[in-house]
Amino acid sequence: MKKIIISAAALLVVVSLQFCSKTAVVSTDANPVVTVITAALQPNLPTTALVYVMNYPAHIQLSLNANDNTPADNVLTNDGATLGRVLFYDKQLSKNNTVACASCHKQNLSFDDNVALSVGFAGGLTSRNSMALLNTRFYKSGKMFWDERAASAEKQALQPIQNLVEMGITLAELETKVKALNYYPALFLKAFGSTAIDSVKIAKALSQFERSIVTYQAKYDRVKQGLESFTTAEAAGETLFNTAGPAPGGAPALSCQSCHSAPMFMNSAAPPFAFPDPLDAGINNQNRFKSGSLRNISTRTALFHNGRIANLQAMLTAGAPGSGTQPIPAHSVAPQDVQNILAFLATLTDNTIATEVKFSNPFQ
Ligand code: HEC
Ligand code: HEC
Repeated sequence: MKKIIISAAALLVVVSLQFCSKTAVVSTDANPVVTVITAALQPNLPTTALVYVMNYPAHIQLSLNANDNTPADNVLTNDGATLGRVLFYDKQLSKNNTVACASCHKQNLSFDDNVALSVGFAGGLTSRNSMALLNTRFYKSGKMFWDERAASAEKQALQPIQNLVEMGITLAELETKVKALNYYPALFLKAFGSTAIDSVKIAKALSQFERSIVTYQAKYDRVKQGLESFTTAEAAGETLFNTAGPAPGGAPALSCQSCHSAPMFMNSAAPPFAFPDPLDAGINNQNRFKSGSLRNISTRTALFHNGRIANLQAMLTAGAPGSGTQPIPAHSVAPQDVQNILAFLATLTDNTIATEVKFSNPFQ
C-alpha cells in the first residue's frame, strides 16, 4: 500500500514537472525575450551627479540614525543612486521592453500607482497592490513586500525582474540585456569603480536609488522645525492620531501612532495584528501585513495590500451607517473625528517628491 502511494506520488511529480516545463516552453515561444536594443534611447544625465546623499532636518535625521536599514556593503552614493535611477526607469529590463520599475512605482504618485492591481509586461495582473516607495530606508528590519518575504531592498530588487507577471526575465537575461546597452559601462564605473556588470550590482544600485527617496519637506516637517504651525483641525487630528483608540467595535484599542510612528509614520516592523483576508494570508500565513510609510497618504488611492480601500476617507468611515462597508479592524474612527484626522494626514504630503529631477525619468 505504502509503495503504491509512493509511486503514485512519484508519477505525479514527473507529470507535474513535465507540465511545468511544457508551459514554460510555450510561454517563451509566445513571448520571446526581446534583445533588440533601442539604441536611440539614451538617458539624459548631467555631467556631475545630482545630490542624493543628504543632510535631513533634525527630526528626520534622528529617526534615520535609529532606523536606517542601509547595509555596510551598500552605502548610498550620488553615483550609485544615479545608476539606480537609470535602471529603475529602463524598460529594457523587462522581457518585451515595455515595463520598468517605474511603470508600477510612478514618481507623480509617490512611487505607487493608483490601481488596486498593476499590469505587467504581458498584460497580466499582480496579485497584490503596488507599494509606495517612500522612506523605505527607515524600515529598520529592512524587510520588503506586504508579506515581508524579501529580507532587504537588495534581495527585493531582483524579484520583480524575474517575476513572470511583472518583468519576466532571468538574471542571466538581465545581465545580457544591461551589458548590451552602451550607456551602462560608464555608469557602473562611476558607481562601483569597474565597468563589470552583474545582477548583484544592479540590485545594489536600485536599492540606493530607493533609499534616497525621502520625504522631509511637507507642512508636517516645517511645523516640527518651528517654521509653521498647525491649524486647529490639524492639531486636533495629530492628538487623535497619537492618542485615540479606534472607534467602538474596532479592537484592539491602539492609537494610530502605535503602528504608524512619526516622523515617517511607519514602524520598525509589522504589528502583531491580523487583517483577515480570505484570499491572502500575508506574513508567515498569520494574516499580518507590513505597512509602509504613511507619508503622502492623502494623495494616494487603492490602499492596503489588496488595494480594495479606495482612499483615506473610505478607510476612516468604513462601517459607518450608509457606507455599505465593513469596518477595517483598528482603522475606522468616530464620525466627529474624521475631518480632523484627514486634516492632519494632509500635512504629511511632500509635493517636492513628484517634481524633483533626480527622481524623474532620465529617458525623456
Ligand atoms: C508590474 C508592476 C510592478 C513592477 C514592474 C515593479 N513592481 Fe515593485 N511592487 C509591485 C507590487 C504589486 C508590490 C507588492 C508585492 C507584494 O507585496 O507581494 C511591489 C513592491 C515593491 C517593493 C516593496 C516596498 C516595501 O515597502 O516593502 C519594492 C522595494 C519594489 N516593489 C521595488 C521595485 C523595483 C526596484 C522594481 C523594478 C526592478 C519594481 N518594484 C517593479 C509592483 C511592481
Ligand atoms: C494595530 C496596528 C495598527 C493600527 C492601530 C492602525 N494601523 Fe493603519 N495599518 C496597519 C497595517 C498592518 C496596515 C497594512 C494592512 C494591510 O494592508 O492589510 C495598515 C494600513 C494603513 C493604511 C493604508 C496604507 C497603504 O499603504 O495602503 C492607512 C492609510 C492607515 N493604516 C492609517 C491608519 C490610521 C489613520 C490609523 C488610526 C485610526 C491606523 N492606521 C491604525 C496597522 C495599524
